[in-house]
Amino acid sequence: MAGPLTFTYANQTVNRLGYGSMRLTGDGVWGYPKDRNEALAVLRRAVELGVDFIDTADSYGPYVAEELIAQALHPYGDVKIATKAGLLRTGPNLWFPCGRPDYLRQECEMSLRRLGQESLDLFQLHRIDATVDANEQFALLRALLDEGKVQAVGLSEVTVEQIKAAREIVPISTVQNLYNVTNRKSEDVLNYCEGEGIAFIPWFPVASGDLARSGGPLDTLAQQNGATIAQLSLAWLLRRSPVMMPIPGTSKVAHVVENCGAVRVSLDDDTFDAIGALAG
Ligand SMILES: NC(=O)c1ccc[n+]([C@@H]2O[C@H](COP(=O)([O-])OP(=O)(O)OC[C@H]3O[C@@H](n4cnc5c(N)ncnc54)[C@H](OP(=O)(O)O)[C@@H]3O)[C@@H](O)[C@H]2O)c1
Repeated sequence: MAGPLTFTYANQTVNRLGYGSMRLTGDGVWGYPKDRNEALAVLRRAVELGVDFIDTADSYGPYVAEELIAQALHPYGDVKIATKAGLLRTGPNLWFPCGRPDYLRQECEMSLRRLGQESLDLFQLHRIDATVDANEQFALLRALLDEGKVQAVGLSEVTVEQIKAAREIVPISTVQNLYNVTNRKSEDVLNYCEGEGIAFIPWFPVASGDLARSGGPLDTLAQQNGATIAQLSLAWLLRRSPVMMPIPGTSKVAHVVENCGAVRVSLDDDTFDAIGALAG
């Protein structure tokens, strides 16, 4: 484990192993889940197991994941809800950036309403819209922060240069990029975040592909450590950096229990290095 199991950003201290709610929706991240009761149970079980950072977005469903979170968990107590805006949805598996400031403001207002909050814990720009001046998008985030509509601001799928540009206008508390054992293209962004004390939220944190196949190298290491591949992936991430906050997503209670067990998987130096070398 790298450092403590908690991380503090913008005066919010949370357990570093969170939960991602995208998988609670219907196929193609569209519509309602087949089993609403299971979705609600996943959220409640995650919190019972110590998760107090839940990632979501207006676009999951759209609106479905936020609705389910509110139904399962409101009032949230110490649990922080991290939502996002900036992607339009026109059908299953269809996502289009939209960073017009008036649209981002509307989505902030609607997330407040759906989540039943007076201020969003963390508001993340899902994508920087290349068709809109980036500074206008950052300025809107700044305005929402100054107005108290949001407590903290994050970015998603950004480069180091984009984070630096945004920070000229608005404090950035978190960065959410694709990152896992098998895909480390955002290594430079992670290192920048670590140096600056910004939370790095790796999405798609459970390793996949050839390295994670049954009988493959990660499977072998997992068995040697009395863990599953998912737990090994998450334990490696937690140890990789003290600013790492993985948000594994699942629609199943059994998997949420398994994933939360990753905090008890302790990797020795050799195992940590061996995993690191696999896709390095
Ligand atoms: N910022 C962005 O652009 C962005 C993009 C994508 C996702 N996200 C966020 O990141 C979160 C995590 O990403 P993700 O959901 O794509 O990836 P993930 O958490 O790495 O993997 C989810 C997939 O793995 C399966 N899974 C989860 N736990 C498992 C386990 N213990 N054993 C076997 N299979 C398991 C899930 O299926 P089951 O449902 O069957 O468990 C699902 O198919 C999302 O929920 C969302 O909040 C953000």
